[in-house]
Amino acid sequence: MLCLGIESSCDETALALVRDGQLLDSVLASQAELHALFGGVVPELASREHGRYVGPLFDELMGRNELSAQDLDLVAVARGPGLLGSLLVGVAFAKGLAAALDIPFIGINHLHAHMLAVGIQNEFIFPAIGLLVSGGHTHLYRIDRPSSFTLLGSSLDDAAGEAFDKVGKVLGFSYPAGRQMNEAASKGNADAFQLPRPYLDNQNMDFSFSGLKTAAIACIQENGLIKSARAPFSPSLLDFCASFNLAVAETLVIKTRRSLESNPDASSLWLAGGVAANSIIRSRMESVARERHIPFLTPTPALCADNGAMIAFAGYLLSQRGYNHSLDMETIPRGRRIPSDMRKSCMPTA
Ligand code: KG4
Ligand code: ZN
Repeated sequence: MLCLGIESSCDETALALVRDGQLLDSVLASQAELHALFGGVVPELASREHGRYVGPLFDELMGRNELSAQDLDLVAVARGPGLLGSLLVGVAFAKGLAAALDIPFIGINHLHAHMLAVGIQNEFIFPAIGLLVSGGHTHLYRIDRPSSFTLLGSSLDDAAGEAFDKVGKVLGFSYPAGRQMNEAASKGNADAFQLPRPYLDNQNMDFSFSGLKTAAIACIQENGLIKSARAPFSPSLLDFCASFNLAVAETLVIKTRRSLESNPDASSLWLAGGVAANSIIRSRMESVARERHIPFLTPTPALCADNGAMIAFAGYLLSQRGYNHSLDMETIPRGRRIPSDMRKSCMPTA
């Protein structure tokens, strides 16, 4: 069973092939350099670039694997949440292919696909508690099977990645700042600056990062921490990045522990999304799993960021359970709930 996955929800055009659950190959065109000129993703430019890249990337992927479109058995595509204009490029391409080839089509929840990426290189262990940390979302889930996600908590304001990007921008890092701040943080002293761990004095599993962002920006200004383009990073800038990174990591850890406590049957802990590439967050989350004697599952850093493999793999998993979409499936922008509108054929259940 050969599944093509297409991802175009933000600023990466990415396609991948999964054959019988194994990742065969993937291609990706990043627009990060273009958007860095504007300090963030410009939606209009993003959709235009997706339109430019999606066709040539498809040809490259199929050509280098000596495959033709007729070899495909399923087309999976990220259907949201994301930038509507960007998503529509991938969705229209995927629907066109599926219609022309007369093969099944499935729209994938981008956030669930991030989480399911843990299964590309690991055996799934259910039920799981999963933390998704990306540029647009911070979600805690209980996951009972690939088609069953229960949202336990989410960010009320900024996502974790957004906090990295916005604070990093004030420091003088280019967009997206998360990876660069992580590198700086690994050379600094995390005890140097006292930053708040906000929104913990409650019983819920939601997050709020806007207070930390405001406190961090005030601290940058008070201490004159702006990065200079010419000089190497000052020790206090490295220390600030370490202190900020630890504040984010500890906040994530506390709410994740709470989720595990309220789901005592959870048998594994998952971490996914672009921010899951963060070395400090990875090691803290791994310790949480170790405390509870459960396995910690996370994709390799390349599979944490937006990629086509996670879409193709999620498409494969759901199709194995008999799910697909009709070609009138709606594309869902950020901020709207993804409807439960998959069709189920008479196939094996799971
Ligand atoms: O999942 P993703 O690739 O795209 C979205 O769906 O949003 O996540 C991108 C986010 C950006 O905010 C970026 O700054 C952040 O992931 N990021 C990191 C690291 N690598 C990427 N944040 C912290 N540490 C990193 N190592
Ligand atoms: Zn993403």
